[in-house]
Amino acid sequence: MIKIVVMSSGEGSNFSAIVKSGIKVSRVITNNPNANVIKRAKKEGVGSLLVERKNENREEYDKKIDYGIYHDIDLIVLAGWMRILSPWFCEKWADKIINIHPSLLPAFGGGCHAIRDAWEYGCKTFGVTVHWVIPEVDTGQIITQRAIHRFDDDTLEKITKRIHNVEHYVYPETIKKLMKIK
Ligand code: GRF
Repeated sequence: MIKIVVMSSGEGSNFSAIVKSGIKVSRVITNNPNANVIKRAKKEGVGSLLVERKNENREEYDKKIDYGIYHDIDLIVLAGWMRILSPWFCEKWADKIINIHPSLLPAFGGGCHAIRDAWEYGCKTFGVTVHWVIPEVDTGQIITQRAIHRFDDDTLEKITKRIHNVEHYVYPETIKKLMKIK
């Protein structure tokens, strides 16, 4: 059976979309005791593991996360993971970690407010990107992209909602393709 771990720091709507698409998630890892993904995981019957960062440096912290990842994991899915991963972690799991970012990378990579930044820039086309994770944030090889057009009567709230809705089918679809899940 395919083993997938989802790492999320917050809301967890992508986690729920992945599970609802029929993909089995073995475990959720979060760094945030208040993350809503913990409640979502409970609701879906998926175990969650809270790994809090104390005084460790990035690599030491990632080694704590690593304890929570089965050695025979097939895929690590970052879905709103708000910490930069160490080169040690990225290299250990190279070709097994993917991320979703709410922009058409390489535009608006590296930040936490990609949608707002694109909006303020005046972009007419927005998007989402699923990519492999390498130590340099949001620069790994692109797996999937979808463009989302801005309408004349759009607001930041409306387009943000549409972008998240697109994420919720693009991410499961990409995982299924990569894992050859029907
Ligand atoms: C998504 O917009 C994703 O692209 C970004 O973080 C957000 C996570 O949302 N990396 P959620 O926690 O899955 O609801």
